[in-house]
Amino acid sequence: MKYRESGMPEEALWENFFNPIEILKKLEVTEKVNTLIDVGCGYGTFLIPASHIVKENVIGIDIDEHYLRVCQERVATNDKVRLITGDITDIVKSAEGDIKLADYITLFNILHCEDPVQLFIDAAKLIKVGGKVGVIHWINDDTPRGPSLEIRPSPNQIIKWAKDAHLSLEKQVAFPPYHFGMLFNKIN
Ligand SMILES: C[S@@+](CC[C@H](N)C(=O)[O-])C[C@H]1O[C@@H](n2cnc3c(N)ncnc32)[C@H](O)[C@@H]1O
Repeated sequence: MKYRESGMPEEALWENFFNPIEILKKLEVTEKVNTLIDVGCGYGTFLIPASHIVKENVIGIDIDEHYLRVCQERVATNDKVRLITGDITDIVKSAEGDIKLADYITLFNILHCEDPVQLFIDAAKLIKVGGKVGVIHWINDDTPRGPSLEIRPSPNQIIKWAKDAHLSLEKQVAFPPYHFGMLFNKIN
């Protein structure tokens, strides 16, 4: 199921709202990361820059064929990028132990979904113990885009959801003017 309010404007406008390199750097996406999975990768706003940083490869998962088509055109011959179309929960279920575990997962602008704890649980299944989950989301204030204020998660809500999925908070970062970020660890 495509999550509520998970559409985006066209990519030139969307990408005005972020500084992807700064966000990835502050959330510790470094050359020490072997494999990064971007859940709901959209246009590849973060996936593509991440592919130039990590050691081995990046995997983008998205349910929306249009966004993935745009992303595919942009990555062209970048052989560090693999794209998978589908619902993250179905992909995790059907892969059942057949997944090469990543050491980093991004949940960017997606945690206003209907069942964020399930999303964290799915993400945690895709990473190794010691792996990291990076999160960004829109602040709960007047912003030029982003989901309705009633469904925007607060940092405290996100910390609680992550805890329910056995992920522990490593740090919080502000990404002004419109976003905040968080980094979690899979401890067991
Ligand atoms: C608001 S966009 C954010 C895109 C990207 N993470 C970014 O920040 O630029 C949310 C993305 O999640 C995708 N999405 C929604 N429901 C999904 C699901 N169940 N499984 C995988 N992707 C999903 C949407 O298609 C969309 O590309």
